[in-house]
Amino acid sequence: MKKLVMGADHAGYALKDKIKATLSERGYEIIDVGTFSAESCKYPLIAHDLCKTITDGKAELGILICGTGVGMSMCANKHKGIRAACTSDTFSARLTRMHNDANVLCFGERVVGYGLAMELVDAFIETEFEGGRHAERVSLINAIENEDFDALK
Ligand code: RB5
Repeated sequence: MKKLVMGADHAGYALKDKIKATLSERGYEIIDVGTFSAESCKYPLIAHDLCKTITDGKAELGILICGTGVGMSMCANKHKGIRAACTSDTFSARLTRMHNDANVLCFGERVVGYGLAMELVDAFIETEFEGGRHAERVSLINAIENEDFDALK
């Protein structure tokens, strides 16, 4: 079973806690980087803690929730080794694992309800990267990340 890490700001923590409870009941090991209340907080700090958990090798996949999912995905994608996808449709949640080897899923508590959110999470965590032709494309994402723009010529 994949090791997961979850994080949310004040606009996403209630949905995080519900999803975490469901995944824990299923036996998933989950690291929770907060936040733990409706008190206003700064989503970039949470995104950073979650990404570090992944790049340190303590979790394989992450789930970030804020009001829209957008701010979290912007912050997450600034981290080397992180490929974050912000989506509210299950097709993209599945395909971003298959094609982009995404390791962080982002969505918004003000956008999706618990039912759809669980479908997004299930699609994301149950799908494997396809590799093959997609591996070369992901390596080009890494080249951009490393500012190795010669690799893109
Ligand atoms: C908080 O009000 C909100 O800005 C935040 O949760 C998120 O949606 C940012 O992208």
